[in-house]
Amino acid sequence: MAKPPKDALRPATRIVTAGRRPEWTGAVVNPPVWRASTHLYENMAALKSAIPNEDGRFYYGRRGAPTQWALAEALTELEPGAAGTMLYPSGVAAIAGALLTALRPGDVLLMTDNAYDPSRVMGKGLLREFGVETRFFDPLDPAAFEAAICERSRAVLLEAPGSLTMEVQDVPALAAKARKRGLVSIIDNTWASPLGFPALERGVDISVMSLTKHVGGHSDVMMGSAAAGPELYARLRRTAQALGQVVSPDDAALVLRGLRTLKTRLKQETSTALEIAAWLRDRPEIALVMCPMLPGSPGHETWLRDFTGGCGLFSFILKGRDAAARARFIDALQLFGIGYSWGGFESLVVPVDPAPLRDVARWPFAGMDAEDRFGVRLSIGLEDPADLIADLDQALAAMKGGR
Ligand SMILES: Cc1ncc(COP(=O)(O)O)c(C=O)c1O
Repeated sequence: MAKPPKDALRPATRIVTAGRRPEWTGAVVNPPVWRASTHLYENMAALKSAIPNEDGRFYYGRRGAPTQWALAEALTELEPGAAGTMLYPSGVAAIAGALLTALRPGDVLLMTDNAYDPSRVMGKGLLREFGVETRFFDPLDPAAFEAAICERSRAVLLEAPGSLTMEVQDVPALAAKARKRGLVSIIDNTWASPLGFPALERGVDISVMSLTKHVGGHSDVMMGSAAAGPELYARLRRTAQALGQVVSPDDAALVLRGLRTLKTRLKQETSTALEIAAWLRDRPEIALVMCPMLPGSPGHETWLRDFTGGCGLFSFILKGRDAAARARFIDALQLFGIGYSWGGFESLVVPVDPAPLRDVARWPFAGMDAEDRFGVRLSIGLEDPADLIADLDQALAAMKGGR
């Protein structure tokens, strides 16, 4: 029987073998690490021949070699509607690559007010110095977004759920408004990945991920990606190449290995996170759980409508506690590492203080008590949920013990 055509298969099936071309991998399962700066030409005629600027053509190391091409091709298959994917040495570099593709001096960038802090810093700092103005809008107010669009607006940066506070924007509505008004829409799609949120299919123009998180998945590699449809991919590629962006083949091999198990890890982390989020919601020490997969949590309805999956990252707010109590809680945790990343196989925790990171969005959320403002973010890994819950339980007891 003939193999089913690629397009007939779902992304989770495709990513198991995506990027495996015989000319790159030979008989082995994953592409070897092709370490190369110099690519050699057979003769002068070959050197002089115009080589198309596309993945799969040997040229020079900065344009990659089979290991990077295989990863980029696999990520393109992960994102329905993508014409191609560019790789960057970090997620922040990928966000910069996407923004610089869309913006020129004099333009206005609209940015969701719950964007990842370095995205905000880029808007208020480097982009401003290059003559681009950044204006923030309330993530949950599509009318405010529309009202903020002006003649000079060229791009919008979305993020759903948003960093730290996890609001789920109405991305299809915002992307449609952006397209109607001629803005390029860019989403930081790291949280759900295209497995949980096929961003281009939902109307977004450029889908960015920090591959450092779920796709790498093992806390040992940094990388970012940006995927675009046929209208914008050439511009995205031109900008990345002009900036000299390239990733190492060793790192590309690690990220490709992570991609193969992405679906299973996300499924398990989502299920454990949901169990823990529901347990926390019922605890008297917790004021609010911000986990879009949890019924009753802010943004749950929109998440249900637009997403096909979740992940292990969510936040919660302690009820009526101060910073010292939160520190006692975090310090008492035994199974959660204290560290600034997420999406790996092991659980992590960080404190969350969104107030200074918001320009226009309401924080604390409407209806929340002003003294309930000390937050915690958990990245749930692959441990047994019962052990993680027992750990959280003893840490809450330690927090109270210190009062
Ligand atoms: C939502 C989000 N986007 C982007 C990034 C940046 O990724 P990287 O650390 O790979 O630069 C992060 C990192 O924490 C993140 O949380």
